Amino acid sequence: MKDITMNHFLDINKIAPTELRKIIDHARQMKDARQGQPKGTMDAEQPLAGHMVALIFEKPSTRTRVSFDVGVRQLGGQTMVLSGADMQLGHGETIADTARVLSRYVDMIMIRTFEEATLLEMAEHADVPVINGLTNRTHPCQIMADIMTFEEHRGPITGKKVVWSGDGNNVFASFAHAAGQFGFDLTFTGPEQLDPEMGFIEEARAKGSNVQIERDPHKAVQGADLVVTDTWVSMHDHPTTRERRHNQLRAYQVNAELMAHANEDALFMHCLPAHRNEEATSEVMDGSNSVIFDEAENRLHAQKAVMRWCLGK
Ligand code: CP
Repeated sequence: MKDITMNHFLDINKIAPTELRKIIDHARQMKDARQGQPKGTMDAEQPLAGHMVALIFEKPSTRTRVSFDVGVRQLGGQTMVLSGADMQLGHGETIADTARVLSRYVDMIMIRTFEEATLLEMAEHADVPVINGLTNRTHPCQIMADIMTFEEHRGPITGKKVVWSGDGNNVFASFAHAAGQFGFDLTFTGPEQLDPEMGFIEEARAKGSNVQIERDPHKAVQGADLVVTDTWVSMHDHPTTRERRHNQLRAYQVNAELMAHANEDALFMHCLPAHRNEEATSEVMDGSNSVIFDEAENRLHAQKAVMRWCLGK
């Protein structure tokens, strides 16, 4: 029988705003409590003691892999990092059977995969919490870290204006989910061919968020409190689309000239990995308004809070 206290962390739009707020606040508390300590120091509280967490990667990763692994250890648990290609999952075993089997060995599963359907099927058949570590469609852990990062620097994100410049990809989609849940405004600026799914925008609008599409990047960033971009060719995009995408997206590069049209104190974010001087210039990435490495650090703290929420700890 499934544990009724179990929470999956599948997408930001599937979790109540009050719960999301608790997760962000808890992440902040845990980060503050660790200030100045070596990275390998265990947290004072060890809620994952005796717990085993499977981290499954069907795509490459640096931040997600290391931050989940370190986070579990800081909370007293143990990890098993698995490559999808090395598992029977990559050789014909069903996702449902994989979920049932893993549930007999581990207390929680984090999966980075291609299709959203794989994540959902894993969650449906697992008897332990499942966390979305990125699919082709969304990247909720990244955006939890990004909300935390914005609020560390600028206070509550509610009512602020976030501008996404570039490809309407999976990271944008989770920003759209967050706009609806945290109550900020969101403008997408990019070429029509790379527009996000309208469903993400309509859902955020239905929750009261002012979500706009503006083709002119200079107009888009006017009044922005935060400017965000991402790589022009995502992991799930075919490499042969590279040249076409670069041509479509060149006008949406985040550079000092574009940032000059945003609010003077507008932050700059990029989830990384970046292709420097393509989607954003090094001048912006290394500039005083850039918080890209805080975002990367906050993956650790936000995900620790997500894991504790999943396990009710
Ligand atoms: N931002 C992000 O998810 O980084 P990785 O692909 O390195 O995990």
